[in-house]
Amino acid sequence: MTSPIIEMRDIEKHFGNIVALAGVSFDVRPGECHCLLGDNGAGKSTFIKTMSGVHKPTRGEIAIDGQRASFASPRDAMNAGIATVYQDLAMIPLMSVTRNFFMGREPTKGRWIFRRFDIERANQVTLEQMRAMGINLREPDQAVGTLSGGERQTVAIARAVYFGARVLILDEPTSALGVRQTANVLSTIDKVRRNGIGVVFITHNVRHAMAVGDRFTVLNRGRTLGTAKRGEIKADELQDLMAGGQEMVELEGSLGGTV
Ligand SMILES: Nc1ncnc2c1ncn2[C@@H]1O[C@H](COP(=O)(O)OP(=O)(O)OP(=O)(O)O)[C@@H](O)[C@H]1O
Ligand SMILES: [Mg+2]
Repeated sequence: MTSPIIEMRDIEKHFGNIVALAGVSFDVRPGECHCLLGDNGAGKSTFIKTMSGVHKPTRGEIAIDGQRASFASPRDAMNAGIATVYQDLAMIPLMSVTRNFFMGREPTKGRWIFRRFDIERANQVTLEQMRAMGINLREPDQAVGTLSGGERQTVAIARAVYFGARVLILDEPTSALGVRQTANVLSTIDKVRRNGIGVVFITHNVRHAMAVGDRFTVLNRGRTLGTAKRGEIKADELQDLMAGGQEMVELEGSLGGTV
């Protein structure tokens, strides 16, 4: 296995006297999809916010390419190649796909007072990058609000990849999507991974995780229950771990079937 791009060692995060993370270790290697699973409140979002410079860990270490790192802000993490796609996606629905793709980082042409936004180039890049992710846009000046949820998710992913992400963190990218849109996002994850980018895929859904994951880490009440490789663990075992095992068995018993 190649060495990790980012390593999180024994991360703790306290909010006042609430312990959201009680010692979580996790790493991401180039070209893998590392799934982070866990029930509501398990600490998944807190953990990735620590990884992306939003929160400072109370305790624990972060290393990038084996070197100690500390992120004072999300900007620092982004400069280290750690990009996050949040569920709300940070997009402006009425603006075009191209404008959303570049968001203030537009290519320009001409110099000095002749400098202006190079719309042809921006449109071309947007079309190419979206096509590389398997989406053929009708027109790049189409408003983002007219795209489906899965397509919008892909714009956000393609944007992060184009601007140099080495690690791409996706917080529940499939939770609001239907079956076909989910399949599209999972196939996008697969394409991103083939580019050598490490993907952190946060989900509640064991089936979505099993479809693309190379490794699986389960969080439960701010602790890691362990990390398993693809092939080492079955879907129902993962499901049990997420729910804390016993509770699921009891629920199945009381409902008289499989949940
Ligand atoms: N800013 C904060 N201040 C206080 N407590 C917080 C804060 N952020 C998170 N917590 C607490 O930390 C715990 C973990 O929350 P977190 O949002 O990380 O869980 P999650 O696994 O992402 O859950 P979900 O699946 O619902 O998104 C929860 O008990 C939550 O209430
Ligand atoms: Mg969350």
